[in-house]
Amino acid sequence: MTKINKAAIIGGGVIGAGWAARLLLNGIDVAISDPDPEAERKVEAVMKNARRAYDGMTDKRPKEGKLSFARSIAEAVEKADLIQESVPERLDIKHKVLAEIDKHAKTDALVGSSTSGIKPTDMQTAMKNPGRLIVAHPFNPVYLLPLVEIVGGEQTDAATIVRAKALYASIGMKPVVIRKEIEAFVGDRLLEAAWREALWLVKDGITTVEELDDIMRYSFGLRWAQMGMFQVYRIAGGEAGMRHFMAQFGPCLKWPWTKLMDVPEFNDELVDLIARQSDEQAGDYSIRELERIRDDNLVAIMQALSKTEHKHGKGWGAGALHRDYVEALEKRAGKDK
Ligand SMILES: NC(=O)c1ccc[n+]([C@@H]2O[C@H](COP(=O)([O-])OP(=O)(O)OC[C@H]3O[C@@H](n4cnc5c(N)ncnc54)[C@H](O)[C@@H]3O)[C@@H](O)[C@H]2O)c1
Repeated sequence: MTKINKAAIIGGGVIGAGWAARLLLNGIDVAISDPDPEAERKVEAVMKNARRAYDGMTDKRPKEGKLSFARSIAEAVEKADLIQESVPERLDIKHKVLAEIDKHAKTDALVGSSTSGIKPTDMQTAMKNPGRLIVAHPFNPVYLLPLVEIVGGEQTDAATIVRAKALYASIGMKPVVIRKEIEAFVGDRLLEAAWREALWLVKDGITTVEELDDIMRYSFGLRWAQMGMFQVYRIAGGEAGMRHFMAQFGPCLKWPWTKLMDVPEFNDELVDLIARQSDEQAGDYSIRELERIRDDNLVAIMQALSKTEHKHGKGWGAGALHRDYVEALEKRAGKDK
């Protein structure tokens, strides 16, 4: 089955609300289970921004799915084809929630965990039917960023991975299957390395939070969005390409250019320093305003990347996928009328 008729979101925080928005905007009914009495209000706020972002992509969208809030996990997962666990990043909570999902979900339901770094093998121990669990790690905002890292555990059925790829692709995502199960997978492993360095640079007074973001967004951030790391470096090697690049910069790996594995002490002083500078950087923008600016920028970048022409056609990377996604939404909108 490659169609999701109903989805359940367990944990409706930042990520759960983002999943709910993507699914609802694809016309899929969603039931959310979250003990936080504020969850409904927070999900609505995210939905409002998500609708606004999709309005910027197309004025023809499928009829929105129906959103409901369930009183229990059992009620939420009833009849759900896809269940997306998005509760806090603690193994004990994941175990408790996955055991409950496992007990009540349809036997053929796909269970995806949004965990940022816990290995699926370590979560499967809580389940009687672990073959249907995968990690499906998204990026915030889930309703706009297409990547989802798919990670199988020791007990995941091979067919589950195949099905997960099809289901997440059906809602406009780019599933990438991680070949070996490791903590933090690939995206967060890269981000953690950059985050550690950034904390050092601010702690050591070499840069402020704002200057560091400028260094990123006026330079390699723009390059990464369209070609990633390796293809950008291939070009940086000049006509000799990657081999020249590696010959030139390979030896730097032994120079003191990086502190990498060394972690700054995580204490109140560090948190205060970063939080204070982050407040200064944000000025009078609220988080919801920043979200809207981020969303407009992301849509604009993907739209721009959908238009660039090259010898194999039109659209590049996330832009080509974005164009296909918008076309698919518009096609389904026609059918809904
Ligand atoms: N924030 C990110 O950028 C990001 C990105 C990718 C993945 N993730 C992962 O997604 C998951 C959720 O993260 P988040 O940032 O949305 O956290 P969050 O704190 O915003 O949301 C977690 C939600 O789970 C709810 N919850 C707690 N216990 C529950 C239970 N027993 N049953 C149902 N709901 C419960 C909380 O009330 C809260 O609303 C984590 O595993 C995290 O690592 C986060």
